[in-house]
Amino acid sequence: VNADGERVFDLTAESGTTEFTSGVDTDTWGYNGSYLGPTLVAARGEDVRINVANDLREATTVHWHGMSLPAEMDGGPHQMVEPGATWSPNFTIDQPAATLWYHPHPDGKTEHQVEMGLAGLFLVQDDEEAALTLPRTYGVDDIPVVVQDRRFDDDGQFVTDVRGYIGPIGDQLLVNGTLAPYLDVTSEVVRLRLVNGSTSRMYDFGLSDGRSFDLIATDGGLLAEAAPMDGIRLSPGERAEILVQVTPGETVNLQSTPPDLGTSASAATRNAGDDTLDVLELRAAATLSSIGAPSTTLAAMEPLRKADASADRSFTLNGYTINNRLMDMTRIDETVEAGATEVWTVDNAMPLPHNFHVHAVQFQVLRVGTEPPPAELSGWKDTIYLEPGVRYELIMQFAEYTDPDFPYMFHCHMLAHEDAGMMGQFVVV
Ligand code: C2O
Ligand code: CU
Ligand code: CU
Repeated sequence: VNADGERVFDLTAESGTTEFTSGVDTDTWGYNGSYLGPTLVAARGEDVRINVANDLREATTVHWHGMSLPAEMDGGPHQMVEPGATWSPNFTIDQPAATLWYHPHPDGKTEHQVEMGLAGLFLVQDDEEAALTLPRTYGVDDIPVVVQDRRFDDDGQFVTDVRGYIGPIGDQLLVNGTLAPYLDVTSEVVRLRLVNGSTSRMYDFGLSDGRSFDLIATDGGLLAEAAPMDGIRLSPGERAEILVQVTPGETVNLQSTPPDLGTSASAATRNAGDDTLDVLELRAAATLSSIGAPSTTLAAMEPLRKADASADRSFTLNGYTINNRLMDMTRIDETVEAGATEVWTVDNAMPLPHNFHVHAVQFQVLRVGTEPPPAELSGWKDTIYLEPGVRYELIMQFAEYTDPDFPYMFHCHMLAHEDAGMMGQFVVV
């Protein structure tokens, strides 16, 4: 904490090498190290400042995905950090406890920089979450699980130049930068903070023996009630916190089984939607600690009401466009009034997967087609998978930060699509 009362973090984007396989040095990028970055933790109400230094040979940005903050601090494509420069955004944490993350966002180059290893978690804490009985000892019973797929060439280097509509799909999984990872579980209940940190791949996370887990949080924070389920689909950028129960001495795998993408079987195959992948082996100790029964009533969540919405906007994703327009850094697509509640209706007009992410706001899902949202879409979200032909009705209330000059982004979070132009800009005034 500095003299101004700000919690200060230092991040340096740098290049290096990582030994994913022993004896093989893979060229990678990371923050304060060779791959990924530190987990930043701050509490609701705190002022934070992050000194972002760029030691790479190319310009980058750092975007705080899921964070409510002024547009100039957002780290989108308008906040470029040139090689050798430092950018120091500051903002006040003003949202519920959640698993947020950070990653580069330079226009047209996001995929490559994320693939090289630039990404990290930003955990928000608050009193409401702290008052619940939940595992929260970081690295012990509260575990980040950043899942990324990668392909290695014969020299052990990342294959990052894959082109094509889908973008790069890897055949190996890295969890927090580790191949074939396992976790020694020492508690009866472990909280896994699942992050789809892949550029294109969709997952359906579950346990290898089919046991159910409790979903407790989505992108923007805790659900109202813990929701038991046996699988959760996450598209790139989405997060989920789950509680998994283990018994002494057992081994069970967190896996990804073929996600239901809502596409034809052949489109699913093209998107590697047929793969079953081991994600993380959970090895329970012979004796397990207990925090008692986890809370099942979690966060009070006021439903946003359609009657309060002052604008309706619709977005159709097609080709690499949103509403038939490719991203243009000089064009503002939407102008939103500060504090407004709005309904955004989003359609994927293609027979292929897309998703939709909105910066600086968390939304609630009103409708999935004609249905109310399922449990996994019942909480705060900032990114949502779009099944082809299904209309998603989202409601969101924008913060009071105004800036007529600097826009926020909305886009498909499949990074090849984002880079190709499936992105638009909105200002809050
Ligand atoms: Cu995580 Cu605009 O993105
Ligand atoms: Cu974002
Ligand atoms: Cu897309």
